[in-house]
Amino acid sequence: MPALPNVPLMEHLRLGINIDHVATVRNARGGDYPDPIRAARLAEEAGADGITAHLREDRRHITDDDIERLSDVLSVPLNFEMAATDEMQAIALRHRPHAVCIVPEKREERTTEGGLEVAQDENRLAHFIAPLRDAGCRVSIFIAADQRQIVAANRIGAQVIELHTGAYCDAHAEGRLEDRDAELERLRQMAGFAHGLGLEVHAGHGLTYDTVAPVAAFPEVRELNIGHFLIGEAIFRGLAPSIAEMRRLMDEARV
Ligand code: PXP
Repeated sequence: MPALPNVPLMEHLRLGINIDHVATVRNARGGDYPDPIRAARLAEEAGADGITAHLREDRRHITDDDIERLSDVLSVPLNFEMAATDEMQAIALRHRPHAVCIVPEKREERTTEGGLEVAQDENRLAHFIAPLRDAGCRVSIFIAADQRQIVAANRIGAQVIELHTGAYCDAHAEGRLEDRDAELERLRQMAGFAHGLGLEVHAGHGLTYDTVAPVAAFPEVRELNIGHFLIGEAIFRGLAPSIAEMRRLMDEARV
């Protein structure tokens, strides 16, 4: 038998599918079609390792009832994205999802524009996440690739950080290649730095088929959360094939 090459195997890179924008399309007509829970079940069948849903304060896409139904039917972990408010904490404690991801939220923004400012709000956030951890949720903090924020996330007791890939993806989309490469390098360094502190590293926001591979190739990254692009791509090739192609690109980058 030929000897196997002596290459260290990278750990499986999980893919979390964000279904918020199935709810966006449903809510455009105010009815119950298309149902994001049906999309979540399909995503599970297509190989998603988790489902991510963001219950926004203004309920513009995912609703309380969606979270309730996702908690009931999913067989893969639910990653519940939420702002650090008392209302959201109470909902998370009621459902006890596998993971909560704390994100900044501004009513006027179209999407989560930046990472959470942890360093200037450490005391409040430490008290905010403690009951979530005690309830058994893995607490993730969505932050920019910034050493100050990573150190602060570690200090407040987060188990996971999710690095915001938006600046990298925007630079790519706008053809600012030097900026893109600088953002990617920042992500690479900060993934390594966070991993060195013992944090689990996730990444997401704005990722597409064109931008996923370099991020998927960082050995410290354990999970990517991807939504908008895949829900858009599903219009053209269907949800399951869209996810399968993303999975393929991630696996290819990981070898
Ligand atoms: N991760 C987090 C923390 C997010 O807030 C979002 C967007 O809701 C995503 C990942 C997915 O981003 P996108 O929809 O751009 O793929």
